Amino acid sequence: DRTEGERLTELAKRRGYYFGSNESYGGTAGFYTYGPQGAALKSNVEEAWRDRFAVQEGNMEIDAPTVMPEPVFEASGHLDGFDDMLVECAECGESHRADHLIEDNSDLEDAETLSLEAAAEEIAALDLVCPNCGAALAGQSVESFNLMFETNIGPGSSTPGYLRPETAQGIFVEFPRIKEYARNRLPFGVTQVGRAYRNEISPRKSIVRTREFTQAELEQFVDPERDEPDLSSVEDVAVTLYPASEQEADDGEYVETTVGDAVAEGVVANAWVGYFLGVAQEWYERIGVDTDRFRFRQHLPGELAHYSSDCWDAESEVDGDWIEIAGFSYRSDYDLSKHAEYSEEDYTVFRQYDEPKTVERAVVDPDMSVLGPEFGGAAGDVKAALETLAERDPDAFDADEVTVEVAGESYAVATDVTNFSVEEQTISGEHVTPHVVEPSFGVDRTIYTLLAHAYEEDEVDGEERTYLSLSPEIAPRDVGVFPLVSNVDELVELADDVVADLRAAGLSVVYDDSGSIGRRYRRQDEVGTPFCITVDRDGLEGEGETTVTIRERDSGRQVRVPVSELAAELGAVRGG
Ligand code: GAP
Repeated sequence: DRTEGERLTELAKRRGYYFGSNESYGGTAGFYTYGPQGAALKSNVEEAWRDRFAVQEGNMEIDAPTVMPEPVFEASGHLDGFDDMLVECAECGESHRADHLIEDNSDLEDAETLSLEAAAEEIAALDLVCPNCGAALAGQSVESFNLMFETNIGPGSSTPGYLRPETAQGIFVEFPRIKEYARNRLPFGVTQVGRAYRNEISPRKSIVRTREFTQAELEQFVDPERDEPDLSSVEDVAVTLYPASEQEADDGEYVETTVGDAVAEGVVANAWVGYFLGVAQEWYERIGVDTDRFRFRQHLPGELAHYSSDCWDAESEVDGDWIEIAGFSYRSDYDLSKHAEYSEEDYTVFRQYDEPKTVERAVVDPDMSVLGPEFGGAAGDVKAALETLAERDPDAFDADEVTVEVAGESYAVATDVTNFSVEEQTISGEHVTPHVVEPSFGVDRTIYTLLAHAYEEDEVDGEERTYLSLSPEIAPRDVGVFPLVSNVDELVELADDVVADLRAAGLSVVYDDSGSIGRRYRRQDEVGTPFCITVDRDGLEGEGETTVTIRERDSGRQVRVPVSELAAELGAVRGG
């Protein structure tokens, strides 16, 4: 009667996939350790992701620190806006995520879109009680709780820092340097695979919602006016879409379509987002996500993160629940503009025109005094800011006045002839702030989905067995090698040779000589090892080459193969 999640958690612990961390000290909610199988699986998933989203796309990968100083998150908006709704039980002091409590106890699916007051009213109307102690929660206020972990950089508290809540900010902050590596030419993509941290109010479902997790993110920088993705490789990819309009309709349905049609018909408004949905669909299939239990769901307007203007989530189904495993967000120029504003660095790239253009340019009067005494000591900086603006955004000077920011102060300057003259200039291009399209994958949730979708039970020789039908590319072990019996030197020696050969060929091999051969198969079935090789007497005897049997995990089928062909045969199946 156990749920899929419970069976998985039990198997994950028993076979070394993952388990709660720090159990010797009572455990720490929201932290998980990957055991030997889990760490290998995770590394294989990350490699498969890198292959598709960095190597095959021709993108650059970076590796930035996980601790970043406070001004980064002032600029990014996380300090102000990266909050969840918290309700605290007056009786036992336990904190809960208000929107989750509401969703778990009502038909509402988007409680995170409620205001704090509306969430408190909903809690009262539903007579919700504390899941920990059963006390009524009605009357408790619902508050905003910032999810970032705070620390200090160096001794003392003068330089606050935060553990990054998304890997993305490391890419955005370093943009002025990275754009040089891309030779200032859009479009280009930058990836990062690494840890992110969120002090989740209520971690849940083992590795699905944790406080430290791994993201694999791609920031695709594009010129919104010029760059279009090449959809040809994904236009026929079939996708199941659940647009916001369908979610809001009473009889809302999925849209079964192709990427090409979804973009052409405007179901997915941004072609870049459409492109990445197609790439992701194929990638998830490749690594073994069950596509019958998979969909792309568009965010409802109130659900969007503070930086996002449109977002589609990849969702997988486990235990009848839909889990967000990746997000495909259109972040516009939000992040780069904010970092430019707060750091006063150049987060633009130069858009070269096909032909040089003659334009009317505002030229700032060289005589500083006309800027007037109200500018005080800032006059020089104001003038410099105006000159930069005149170069970056000449159209701004069409208005009666322009505003520039200097040291956090706004200065409005009249665009009349006392301050500016107009000159004709020939220019070869202009500065633009790139827009960002962001496929953001949760590695841990991908792993959870892969394990849940690979979990199978059947009967072999009248006995129940459990196996993980993981794809050979991502399975933690490639092959098990067993001497049929452990007390015959010839068999053990040959098995040792086979292990050495396969390891030299780069395969991950488990050697096992204990217990009946059936038990050894069962053990590897539960780990998800796609193949097991058994070394027996039959293979050593007779004329011709030495042979062994290979057993395929899902079907249990066995074939006899010459030892000399093993490495090539298994290497080819593994691929990747
Ligand atoms: N940079 C965009 C971003 O961070 P997000 O939707 O907040 O977007 C992206 O996170 C992905 O990271 C999610 O789809 C999910 O797979 C994963 N993720 C987010 N919070 C998580 C948590 N607490 N535990 C595990 N994975 C998480």
